[in-house]
Amino acid sequence: MIQKLSRKFVDGLPKAELHVHIEGTLEAEMEFAIAKRNQIDIGAKTPADIDRNYGVGLPEFLKAYYKGMQVLRTKQDFYDLTAAFLRKEADSNVKHLELFFDPQAHTSRGIPFATVIEGIHEAIVDAASLDIDVQLIMCFLREYSQESAMQTLKEAEPYHKKGWILGVGLDSDEHHNPPLKFMLVFAKARDQGYYLTMHCDLHQVDTVDHIKQALEIITVDRLDHGLNIVENADLMTFLIDQKIGITACPMAYFYTRKVMEQKAINKLFNNGALISFNSDDPAYKGSNYINDVYYKFAQKSDWNEKELIRIAQNSFKTSWISQQEKESYLAQIDEYISNKR
Ligand code: ADE
Ligand code: ZN
Repeated sequence: MIQKLSRKFVDGLPKAELHVHIEGTLEAEMEFAIAKRNQIDIGAKTPADIDRNYGVGLPEFLKAYYKGMQVLRTKQDFYDLTAAFLRKEADSNVKHLELFFDPQAHTSRGIPFATVIEGIHEAIVDAASLDIDVQLIMCFLREYSQESAMQTLKEAEPYHKKGWILGVGLDSDEHHNPPLKFMLVFAKARDQGYYLTMHCDLHQVDTVDHIKQALEIITVDRLDHGLNIVENADLMTFLIDQKIGITACPMAYFYTRKVMEQKAINKLFNNGALISFNSDDPAYKGSNYINDVYYKFAQKSDWNEKELIRIAQNSFKTSWISQQEKESYLAQIDEYISNKR
């Protein structure tokens, strides 16, 4: 008899998370507490007054996301946010985390770059005892200019040189903001030794063109969301042949659009794409953290341990760590499975 998938199995499975925005982990309780500490009136008498039901589209989500993060002002705020999330990730058996942050969303409000990166980095250093390896990916906001992204890359240089930032990404509002707009800054980032990734959000205008630009012109090392690639057989073959990772966030889709995009995810998975599962902005997507994503998608899709093991393997395979480290994490998965048998 085939055993039913247990939540305990999912919780204990070693995994990597590659697509989660630190600002998207700001739960209403923490937003409320930090607002109080910084004496900011956010118009809420209790955390429950903070509305996270913002609507269905990317612009609606982004409005709520940028509003929430206004309370983050000091190094301590960025430290507390990161420290709380890292504890959660370690408790979820995330062994390796590549974490997005959005510096321009803060520097544009007058918060120095140093405040943001130092607060986040200090929390990473202090999490050394947690058995989780953490790297940072700095995202450029795509509604800002390429010059602004260049300026941000320049500000990041001393921290990149110290090994604090591993990659760059591109997020925020995709409408009329294609990958090509950022061609020069991504080329420069590549020259400086950063890994490259990019969001191609779901069902956006010209999304397949954006995916094509990201893969063929920017030559990203990984693709974030990008599930509309299933509409173009050549691009999908390219992604699979080149072993380029693709980060899916099923509960993020489900929270707003009530679909987990099972059809596209299964098509990629069944054709051997290196697809991983991630939480994106858990505090804004119904507090669905990584293990909720694994478990709920499997339940909905009649998946069992076998499929989730492959998803976890993919997460390490497409992470930006050495081959030796990959093998060591994959061995941890094997050990976990054999101890269960
Ligand atoms: N910023 C934070 N999360 C994002 C997402 N999933 N897409 C685009 N921009 C984002
Ligand atoms: Zn994202």
